[in-house]
Amino acid sequence: MRPTEEQLPDWLSHQIVETLKQSGLSRGSITSAIQNLSDGYIHRSEGVTTSWEKSETQIAYLAYFLPLNFVRLQHLFHELNDLGFLNGITNYVDFGSGPGTLSLLLFDQYSNIFSQGVCVERAPEAKRLFEHLRKGSPQSIPIHWATDLSSKKVSQMASALFVFSYSLVELEKLPDWFFDLHEIVVVEPSDRTNGRKILELRKELLSRGFHIWSPCTHQDMCPLHQHSKRDWCHQRVLLDQPEWFSELEKDLPMKNRSLTYSHLVASRREPPQKLQQLARITGDLLVEKGRSRQMFCQDSERRFLQWLKRDDPHLSYFRGQLISRTQLNNS
Ligand SMILES: C[S@@+](CC[C@H](N)C(=O)[O-])C[C@H]1O[C@@H](n2cnc3c(N)ncnc32)[C@H](O)[C@@H]1O
Repeated sequence: MRPTEEQLPDWLSHQIVETLKQSGLSRGSITSAIQNLSDGYIHRSEGVTTSWEKSETQIAYLAYFLPLNFVRLQHLFHELNDLGFLNGITNYVDFGSGPGTLSLLLFDQYSNIFSQGVCVERAPEAKRLFEHLRKGSPQSIPIHWATDLSSKKVSQMASALFVFSYSLVELEKLPDWFFDLHEIVVVEPSDRTNGRKILELRKELLSRGFHIWSPCTHQDMCPLHQHSKRDWCHQRVLLDQPEWFSELEKDLPMKNRSLTYSHLVASRREPPQKLQQLARITGDLLVEKGRSRQMFCQDSERRFLQWLKRDDPHLSYFRGQLISRTQLNNS
């Protein structure tokens, strides 16, 4: 069973392509800018932020990191909407918003839910990029930009949805007000270091009275945190690439037929009962000596689905897929 592929909305694709054309840069210059920013992200030291002052960074982010993060957020917000997590929330704060990746998604698909947003971003260049991109969006939400957030301001907006998309990775420590929040969405790179940090954060949030809505379908200890020092949890998303993106990718060593991300969604509200009836596939398909195995999660145990490949040669689940526990027990 495979989930549907995520796509960029046409207007955003169009806006990106037009901006790249206006830059006058060759495909080779764009892909080397992407490669440089990607290397910078991979090798950066803790607390180093995106170098928005460089025009090379702006182009690389526009052509590559923005579309990929948009698709990751789109995938996650589909699930959160289905779970009812967005019910009753009307305001959002996007901390480290960059070029407004989240806002562009919310404009496109959730303008009926959110009536107001705040983008917290230090770099004026990122805001300028957003102002340009938003012109293509058929819908919008009133938003306010800020370069910082005081604890006082946060306490006035405590019930808003606070989103940290690829921004905690740029902070040396969590903001002082982090645990005063009510609704938190964190999305981070799916490498071991950042993935393990999310597992630590999950434990801390639970100890402070938060409930976890995603990726976990339970509130027990995390089996990957408890029983391993190496594992971490991440999702996989299939990407239906627009043609211009596939063309750029031909010149890049990274291939993005599917994308991964690590995330954590926590709230002061309890999740609905239906979450406890679900389990999540937390591993890719493993085939060993005719036997197929896939890790899944529904409590603090490390659990595997197992079947003989010859019994069901085509069976495979998608990493991150939610599946009913009844279906699992019957398989
Ligand atoms: C990798 S970008 C992510 C942008 C966007 N959220 C996304 O998902 O595409 C991280 C952003 O966080 C911003 N940032 C880092 N530390 C910040 C801080 N202390 N206050 C405000 N913005 C910050 C950086 O300028 C950068 O634009």
